[in-house]
Amino acid sequence: MKKLLYILLAVVAVFAIIYAFSGKSNAANNKVLVAYFSATGNTAAVADRLANAIGADLVAIQPEVAYTAEDLDWRNDKSRSSVEMGDRASRPAIANKIDNIEQYDVIFLGFPIWWGREPSIIDTFIESYDFAGKTIVPFATSGSTPTTDEAASNIQSLASDASVSTGKRFENSVSGDELKAWAGEWL
Ligand SMILES: Cc1cc2nc3c(=O)[nH]c(=O)nc-3n(C[C@H](O)[C@H](O)[C@H](O)COP(=O)(O)O)c2cc1C
Repeated sequence: MKKLLYILLAVVAVFAIIYAFSGKSNAANNKVLVAYFSATGNTAAVADRLANAIGADLVAIQPEVAYTAEDLDWRNDKSRSSVEMGDRASRPAIANKIDNIEQYDVIFLGFPIWWGREPSIIDTFIESYDFAGKTIVPFATSGSTPTTDEAASNIQSLASDASVSTGKRFENSVSGDELKAWAGEWL
């Protein structure tokens, strides 16, 4: 009788281990990447929270030349960001390369809203890889612009073979749970 109980316990333990591992590997099986650009840290914090909440890989899109406070002065029409954003052909260089991007099916793409849309470096990012057959889900932080609609439409036209969601703009304070609930649709 005791032996039977041990066998039963062993079987339950094996199933519990299998269950635990299958749960952990869900995100990896779905091949999800969170990639983001952030100039002043707001989007970085949200991206970090999102990646943690859904168990995804996280990568920062790093500009070859970092943006200074002066560069980001949107009140100055001669500042670097104003000049870049005023030129639709502008493609600020990216310092880092994602070697294994082909393994991902879903890419959550985060950025701050600049002038109502995605910063030009996001356009550089989109044009740097082949996103055919992949899903790109934009997310953003902003001062007040409420949606990522314009960014999503721009991204879709640059990555015409990808499926680009309209995405979502978040408050800086959005919780991991809220992000996880939102992201669930693509996991
Ligand atoms: C050059 C520039 C342009 C911006 N344009 C907008 C805008 O059009 N609408 C908006 O709500 N916020 C705008 N912002 C504010 C940023 O979107 C906001 O501060 C964002 O959270 C910054 O994210 P980050 O810290 O990840 O860089 C702009 C900021 C900069 C630097």
